[in-house]
Amino acid sequence: MNLAFMPEKSKVDNLSLPEKSMINVKGLVKDFGKNRVIDGINATVSAGEVVVLIGASGSGKSTFLRCLNGLETLTAGEILIDNVRLESKSSSLKQIRRQVGMVFQQFNLFPHLTVLENVIEAPVHVLNQKKDIAVKAARELLTKVGLLDKQNCYPGTLSGGQGQRVAIARALAMHPKIMLFDEPTSALDPELVGEVLTVMKQLAEDGMTMVVVTHEMGFAREVADRVIFIDEGRIVEEGSPIQIFSNPQEKRTQTFLGRLSH
Ligand SMILES: Nc1ncnc2c1ncn2[C@@H]1O[C@H](COP(=O)(O)OP(=O)(O)O)[C@@H](O)[C@H]1O
Ligand SMILES: [Mg+2]
Repeated sequence: MNLAFMPEKSKVDNLSLPEKSMINVKGLVKDFGKNRVIDGINATVSAGEVVVLIGASGSGKSTFLRCLNGLETLTAGEILIDNVRLESKSSSLKQIRRQVGMVFQQFNLFPHLTVLENVIEAPVHVLNQKKDIAVKAARELLTKVGLLDKQNCYPGTLSGGQGQRVAIARALAMHPKIMLFDEPTSALDPELVGEVLTVMKQLAEDGMTMVVVTHEMGFAREVADRVIFIDEGRIVEEGSPIQIFSNPQEKRTQTFLGRLSH
């Protein structure tokens, strides 16, 4: 049999199945008064992609994440989440915000609720899930982040790393399509950073679409599909971790990375 004219199956499949865009940012501008903090960002994140954002303090990373989560009104431009436009006044904003989980540097667990109660709070009160169903799902999530044994503890008794893992479980309980992380390990003692990064790595391997602001370059090298360097509210350079860390093209990227390694 002559196979020379048989199309290569994988290539045909790739052509017919373009990568699904989960986040699409077009011409994003964000001003605070006269201060232009995001200055024309265009970016696309595919489903299942892990993007790490790096940049100096004050460069606009947190503001960018907050825009993605509908927490800021946009000065100009637009954001599509899973092909739905984020409208600041629309009734669908809440709906979209639920699809985008966020974990901050300072986890804000409810101190008067147990770990389990923290995780079921939003599913029960926002999604109107039945309590027994929410509890079952919450226990599965706590198992995933290695904290089932802490389900009846109060946040005040947890270490920073454990608290942050509960915060991740709590965000996942809403079944988000996207998870945003804003320096999730920056406030932790060094010995507690690894356990949080391990959970995030697992999440990435499970196929979650993730945008992560972090100074943990080891995590970025290992887990990121793409690294984006932001300076003064603009994307200066982006590429694979190898491209950005081993062969940065732009002077500003080189200077930023040079400062980190000293
Ligand atoms: N709510 C706000 N009101 C006014 N200025 C803000 C606000 N949030 C952030 N900024 C300003 O926007 C700039 C970028 O901040 P931020 O997005 O937090 O940067 P990064 O996370 O990269 O450190 C800073 O100059 C900061 O002072
Ligand atoms: Mg920040």
